[in-house]
Amino acid sequence: MKHLLSMESLTRDAIYSILELAETMKATRGRHEKLPLAGQCWALIFSKSSTRTRVSFEVGIRELGGSVMFLSSADIQLGRGEPIKDTARVMGRMLDGAVIRTFLQSDVEIFSEYSQIPTVNALTDDEHPCQILADLQTIREKLGGVEGRIVCFIGDGACNVARSWIWAAARLDFELRIAAPQGYQPDAQLLERARQSGRIVVSSDPLEAVRGADVLYTDVWVSMGKEEEAAERLRAMAHYQINDTLLQVAAPGAIVMHCLPAYRGKEITAETFEAHASTLFDQAENRLHAQKAILQLIARRS
Ligand code: CP
Ligand code: NVA
Repeated sequence: MKHLLSMESLTRDAIYSILELAETMKATRGRHEKLPLAGQCWALIFSKSSTRTRVSFEVGIRELGGSVMFLSSADIQLGRGEPIKDTARVMGRMLDGAVIRTFLQSDVEIFSEYSQIPTVNALTDDEHPCQILADLQTIREKLGGVEGRIVCFIGDGACNVARSWIWAAARLDFELRIAAPQGYQPDAQLLERARQSGRIVVSSDPLEAVRGADVLYTDVWVSMGKEEEAAERLRAMAHYQINDTLLQVAAPGAIVMHCLPAYRGKEITAETFEAHASTLFDQAENRLHAQKAILQLIARRS
């Protein structure tokens, strides 16, 4: 594996390799036998805000022996219109790897192609693979694995996190249900492709969708870049909230997950959030371990 660009591009074996190494990373934090990024310099190139992704990559790269620089796109010439191809060719000559958060999926792909250095997608409008890998690690810890389970995503079924979940379902053995209002359901062509190998059910009835589900998952209703649509989105998704009513029909012992940041009173109630805080913050912590596994697997060997 040279890059981590999407869940779609990962094989089932690659996902399991990441999850197994992530478990080791977590168990051996602070006393890793090898430092795969020793002597390396990586950059985080971000065009969107971030708390978890930025902190977990900065800490993770350092814990694996590397050094790291954070480059906001507003601070580099990329933000003034320098093409991604040129940015990539410059950075490829100096850096050992790049972690990119941006809008277009094609920008991450072009960067990886032109820079020739290991490249990680740290969120685009299309996908958030690092998030879903950390989520799968969390589900392993809490439920022993996602295999045979029912995961229900509630809210914006067309967002990056939902799309990456769709590809996880296409690769692994579980049922994914997406409850989203019309206009915020996954793209039909994407679903058709993913359904060739995955069990994915889409509905506009959240109560029906969560019935018997083992994992209730949500994300913000207004993703970064969609701020102008905020009022419309809040109206459309008002009944797609994780709350006690939904939890009552979920499977006994169902867990609640959220990639965070969370907006209480919108996609999740404050009470449900606090009742499930230990899972939610284990999920956030697992970003660090899952990403360290990804970094070790894609890093150039010295
Ligand atoms: N879940 C997630 O990616 O969080 P940040 O936007 O804070 O990085
Ligand atoms: N769908 C959200 C995820 C944030 C981590 C967004 O793109 O803003």
